[in-house]
Amino acid sequence: MEKRCGSTLKLECSINNETINITVPASARLSDIVREELHLTGTKVSCGIGRCGACAVIMDGRLVNSCLVMAYQAKKSVIQTIEGVATEDGLDPIQQAFLDEGGFQCGYCTPGMIMAVKVLLTENPNPTDEEIVDRLSGNLCRCTGYAGIIRAVRQASNRVCTSIE
Ligand code: FES
Ligand code: FES
Repeated sequence: MEKRCGSTLKLECSINNETINITVPASARLSDIVREELHLTGTKVSCGIGRCGACAVIMDGRLVNSCLVMAYQAKKSVIQTIEGVATEDGLDPIQQAFLDEGGFQCGYCTPGMIMAVKVLLTENPNPTDEEIVDRLSGNLCRCTGYAGIIRAVRQASNRVCTSIE
């Protein structure tokens, strides 16, 4: 995190089902907090200005770019990062689908992509290809050409729909 002078604030929130109580610089962004204060480095930072989705996390059920969320905005919120996606039983079906379908190469975009897919499939368990492309338009991937990502979302959708039936 870059050096900041000035005020601090107490941040209480829930991250991956754990209550967090820390003091952070008032100017810290949520991406700084999860990566550098909490060492949850699965959340990536690329553009730092809300354009690439690498830093996406789920906050109060909504997908947010954590590089655009200031510390005070995270107060009392419920946050999930990529580290909170797998369970004791294993990988989340979305993670497994990305593995099975070659939905990543370097993997830098993948945590943000998976958080975006989680929100998408929660809201719409059976999206069309058009809806998948539309909903992932804020998550940029420089490597894959998106075909593997779309296959992964389709496979994850099939698993989610099967588990709902
Ligand atoms: S690093 Fe946050 S949107 Fe790019
Ligand atoms: S897998 Fe490399 S940026 Fe997406």
